[in-house]
Formats: sequence, C-alpha cells, structure tokens
Amino acid sequence: MMKYAVEVDGLVVHRGRNDVLRSISTTVPTGAIVGLLGPSGSGKTTLMRALVGAQRITAGTATVLGLPAGHPRLRSRIGYVSQSPSVYDDLTTRQNLAYFGRVVGAPSRDVDRVLDEVDLRPQQHDLVRDLSGGQQNRVSLGAALLGSPELLVLDEPTVGLDPLLRRDLWTLFRSIASQGTTLVVSSHVMDEAQRCDRILLLRDGTLLADVTPAELLERTGTADADDAFLALVGAAA
Ligand SMILES: Nc1ncnc2c1ncn2[C@@H]1O[C@H](COP(=O)(O)OP(=O)(O)OP(=O)(O)O)[C@@H](O)[C@H]1O
Ligand SMILES: [Mg+2]
Repeated sequence: MMKYAVEVDGLVVHRGRNDVLRSISTTVPTGAIVGLLGPSGSGKTTLMRALVGAQRITAGTATVLGLPAGHPRLRSRIGYVSQSPSVYDDLTTRQNLAYFGRVVGAPSRDVDRVLDEVDLRPQQHDLVRDLSGGQQNRVSLGAALLGSPELLVLDEPTVGLDPLLRRDLWTLFRSIASQGTTLVVSSHVMDEAQRCDRILLLRDGTLLADVTPAELLERTGTADADDAFLALVGAAA
C-alpha cells in the first residue's frame, strides 16, 4: 500500500485573474481523514478540484494514488462530491445510485449497501427534487461511495445536516477510513476538525497549518477548535 494517497508539491492555481492557490505543499497519508478548513474563498474547493482532475494546474504537481491528478485511470478510484448537488433531481434516489453505479462499474448490489450507509432506504423511491436539502446531500455522498473508491474527496458533505446526522456521517467516514480508504473532507464547522486525523488550514490560498487536531490546540493555546481557527486565521490577517 502506498504511504501517501495524495502528494501535493508547490501547487499553484490561477483562476481568471485570481491567484487562488499559492504554492501549496502537503501529503495525505493513506487511510487518513484529512479536514480542509478555512474561510470562504480560501481555496478549499479549488484544491479539491485539483485533486480530482477538474481544475487546471498553473504550476507544481498533484499526485493522487501514485498518478498525476486527472489521469484517466484515477476516474473509478476516486469518489468526489462537489459543493453543489450533482445528482439528477428528476430521478429517484435509487435510480440515481443505479445510474452512477453503472458509470463507475460498481456491482449492482452496491446500491443497497450505499442506501443503508447514507440512511436513505426509506427515500429510495422518492424523486430527488422532493427530498430535503440534507437528504439530497446524502444522495450525492452515496453516489460517491459506489464502487468503494480508494480516495473520497468530499466538499462540505455535512452542510445542512442536523447534529445527529452529522455524527452518524462522521461515524461512517471513520468506518470507511478504517478499511484503508483515504478521505479529504472540507468543512466550515470547526468541531468537525476534531474528528480528523490531520487538519489543513487554508487562508487566501496559502497553507496556514498542516497539523493534528491536538497540535492545532497546542499551537494556538486555545481550548476549542473555533478559538484555534480564529487565532490562526485572525493572527495572519
Ligand atoms: N470560476 C472562477 N473564476 C475565477 N476565480 C474563481 C472562480 N471560482 C473561484 N474563484 C476564486 O477562487 C477563490 C477560492 O475559491 P474556492 O471556491 O476554492 O473557495 P472555498 O474555500 O471553497 O470557499 P467556500 O468556503 O465559500 O466554499 C475565491 O476567492 C474566488 O474568488
Ligand atoms: Mg468551497
């Protein structure tokens, strides 16, 4: 097994006139859950897009599962949930999962496994447009879990979920990681950072911190993650 699922070296991304990522270097250990945190506009989505091959890289390298990001052989090995819903709202939950399962060549029994994992069995025959926002997010997450990808890239997967569902999802993330899958998860919610193995804190396209949750608190001398975030993001402003 590879030591690192993701290796990023001197990654620079320009979008239009914006220097969105300014020489990011980091590694993500295989089987780890890495949290991507930072203020709105700091570059979280752009970094994730670069990892899944959806973003043109200006300079530097992004290596994913030993291949250059965007390599065609990575397509079925990465599950990506973008920040905006990417499933079909005129299909049912089950129809969506069946469709995306075929796209990645997942065995058809995967649909039932995933329905239970994201807790949408009661909604399996409902049209996605008739689901709540949180349920729609979970359909997208379910689609990414089909075929058991080696790397999951999840852009704010817990937005709009109540605390109970968030806790259940993090339990699911941990159980997926314990089977050797690597997760890169962005979030605005700092208490979710505490559940990660490592935290990448971005501000203005720069990596402010690449630490464990304990190191984050230690480094900022704060007792909770919200204060640590404010200390780091504020101090560097
Ligand atoms: N299509 C685009 N063209 C030009 N600049 C863009 C484009 N999309 C994003 N940007 C710029 O890139 C920067 C980072 O955007 P990104 O979406 O990566 O941030 P984010 O950290 O994911 O924010 P949020 O927490 O709001 O989702 C923003 O400041 C924005 O101005
Ligand atoms: Mg974003």
